[in-house]
Amino acid sequence: MKSVKELLSSEKPQQDITVAGWVRTIRELKNIYFVELNDGSTVKNIQIVFDNDAISNEEVSKLTTGSSIKVSGDLVESPAPLQKFEIKPKKLQIYCINDAEKYPLQKKNHSFEFLRTIAHLRPRTNTFGSVFRVRSTFAYAIHNFFFNEGFFYIHTPIITTSDCEGAGQMFQVTTLNLEEIARSGKLDYSEDFFNKKAFLTVSGQLEVENFAQSLSRVYTFGPTFRAENSNTTRHLSEFWMIEPEMAFFELEDNMDLAEKFIKQTLTFTMNKHPDEFEFFDKWIEKGLLSRLDNVLNSPFERITYTEAIEILNKSGKKFQYPVFWGIDMQSEHERYLTEEYFKKPIFVTDYPKEIKAFYMKRNEDGKTVRAMDLLVPKIGEIIGGSQREDNLENLLTNIKEKNLNEEDYWWYIDLRKYGSVPHSGFGLGFERAIQFITGMTNIRDVIPFFRAPGWAEF
Ligand code: 4AD
Ligand code: MG
Repeated sequence: MKSVKELLSSEKPQQDITVAGWVRTIRELKNIYFVELNDGSTVKNIQIVFDNDAISNEEVSKLTTGSSIKVSGDLVESPAPLQKFEIKPKKLQIYCINDAEKYPLQKKNHSFEFLRTIAHLRPRTNTFGSVFRVRSTFAYAIHNFFFNEGFFYIHTPIITTSDCEGAGQMFQVTTLNLEEIARSGKLDYSEDFFNKKAFLTVSGQLEVENFAQSLSRVYTFGPTFRAENSNTTRHLSEFWMIEPEMAFFELEDNMDLAEKFIKQTLTFTMNKHPDEFEFFDKWIEKGLLSRLDNVLNSPFERITYTEAIEILNKSGKKFQYPVFWGIDMQSEHERYLTEEYFKKPIFVTDYPKEIKAFYMKRNEDGKTVRAMDLLVPKIGEIIGGSQREDNLENLLTNIKEKNLNEEDYWWYIDLRKYGSVPHSGFGLGFERAIQFITGMTNIRDVIPFFRAPGWAEF
């Protein structure tokens, strides 16, 4: 059995090949049936020309869009202009005739919104097939990048008892009987499965930091969960995050790595999928290829938060949310900076300590921390990272200032007691990165089955 992709990239015609897939279209012209077959190996279809010779037209005419078949025959040069090869069939096996009347994808050009309600069928469309092929390769590119840079992949836990971001946006994990508690009015976590309150993780960072203190260069790449009630095109309740953590790295080294990481993984992915990227450029975002080219070929800008606020204030633009030193920048601010002002990805560093997590290293000014966010056109923030607080006293002060419980973090605090070193890391939101490279505007359309407030179907 050959894949459609293998056949289309064949050097020369071949005899007696077999291919299987789903009929995309079937049309008849002067007693000849032309079937476009796709098997998901590529966005392109292979054409099978049934001329009532080896297989009767009566048999072929049963086929409908979405029907599944296996065909054996010869791969021959195609007289049609846009394709090198087509198949001259000798044998047809029909697995399943699709009921064209009922098939939800019979009609072309469904809205993405409608396709979300049939997320089990949407991978069959060109757009979603392409998104998920690219998603898979991009994940591989990420592992490949870190492997080549001497990193080790650490599988951090999904169930945790500490809140990494300290934002209280965690899903609770419990085996307690909620109905029973509601009835009795008694709640005792010592009777819960883990004998204490547990949650789904918002980030693997705290755990992966432990390993950076022994293996030096490590990363985690797994699902993370946030119970924030954000119904936006860039928020999911369940998303994947890539979090490298490096001993002996300071903030500048962290940014250098992040930039190299984005550029190399993007290049790798684009090189593997020229057809998909051409498809995105044509149908999803006109000008995508030149936008990505600009990303690959320009050094990312680096500015401080204080400079960013100055630029926003001088912009003369009317923003919905007011701009002053101390604000947590909104998407409109981020997008102005990266899309309109710099017109390329930018790192913003040294944010006010009040708006950032407890683990970030304090600057000497006492007001800001060694944070870095990477902002990109179209999306805004795709990376959040920092140099970590490696001084025990400062870390304890941060925990106190943020009203967190020292006991919840005892093992994390231990790292600052035993052989503490400067270290840094960051988190890339995998789905936001896929939006960025494919041009897809809604984050719900770049993950196989999305989770969002009020939605956990499938
Ligand atoms: O900025 P965040 O919250 O940083 C962390 O979690 C750190 N622990 C990372 C680290 O330093 N190791 O999240 C990192 C990235 C964001 O920049 C964004 O791309 C993505 O994760 N992200 C989300 N993606 C989809 N849906 C959400 N609700 C997201 N929240 C964050
Ligand atoms: Mg962030």
